[in-house]
Amino acid sequence: MHHSALHTPSRIQLTPAGELRHFISIEGLSAGLLNHILDTAEGFLGKEGSILNAPLLEGRTVMNLFFEPSTRTRTTFEVAAKRLSANVLNIDMQQSSTKKGETLRDTLWNLEAMAADMFVIRHSASGAAHFMASEVCPNVAIINGGDGRHSHPTQGMLDMLTIRRHAHKAFADLSVAIIGDIKHSRVARSDIEALQTLGVRDIRVIAPRTLLPTGIEEFGVTVHENMDKGVEGCDVLIALRIQNERIGSPLLASSEEFYKLYGLTEARVERAAPNALVMHPGPMNRGVEIASSVADGPQSLILKQVNYGIAVRMAVLSLCMQGQLSQRGVTL
Ligand code: CP
Repeated sequence: MHHSALHTPSRIQLTPAGELRHFISIEGLSAGLLNHILDTAEGFLGKEGSILNAPLLEGRTVMNLFFEPSTRTRTTFEVAAKRLSANVLNIDMQQSSTKKGETLRDTLWNLEAMAADMFVIRHSASGAAHFMASEVCPNVAIINGGDGRHSHPTQGMLDMLTIRRHAHKAFADLSVAIIGDIKHSRVARSDIEALQTLGVRDIRVIAPRTLLPTGIEEFGVTVHENMDKGVEGCDVLIALRIQNERIGSPLLASSEEFYKLYGLTEARVERAAPNALVMHPGPMNRGVEIASSVADGPQSLILKQVNYGIAVRMAVLSLCMQGQLSQRGVTL
């Protein structure tokens, strides 16, 4: 989805040969490249949720820089890097010198001097990962672990892997609903970009007007303010987290009201296609955007999403490393 002030040129994340060298945003990437990421991730999945080891990053150093809280993204990046035999450092940004006023650029350059090969960054500022990619030295990769409202590309890709593995239709024939706080959601943006690139024609966003970005219809999605109608016949239902700070604000009267109008309940799942996939990026507010019986029910893929996140992050780490090296004429 275009995001005018934050437009991220896809070129910065590709080598001249079109390989991935940073992973900042899904915007502008080809279907071929997205499928290559998904195929690479598939290769790391073993039987019954197991993840394979592949020493593709042996001797490399991955640094996790999380300026915002995270359970899934930070940990699965760490697990992924370890499965690839990398050295992983989780930098505690709460204890770092950014608290004393050091700039993001200086933090980056100092950590770069410690021989980092890749940084995974989560930051509240939209554009932070792109800024780092434009500042970093040529043999270092930047991977976006979520920047402001802009982008969460590895979440987008793990959502696509979940859909590709579990849906019984091709992407072009799917109806997908994204429900809740679209306006503030980097996951919604990345999912919409990935779904469109992979050929999904029926993308519905279901939310009250106050939680929709202006001009959303221009991006080829249909808007539903009535959830019962919006979920009808959908193959995939993606519920998003309501950010607690919105509750009680003019955007969202109360969590009870939201649940009544937009909560993903069993009754609403029944209005969707039979065996529709139920997804949520986490963290969940049970009883606000999703009923516990649905989150823990037979159609829920929420924990599978977390598991596939490891394989997707292994794919992105190894492909970015490969892109960096091949640009310099070295093979992985
Ligand atoms: N889905 C997601 O990004 O979760 P975390 O904030 O826990 O990383």
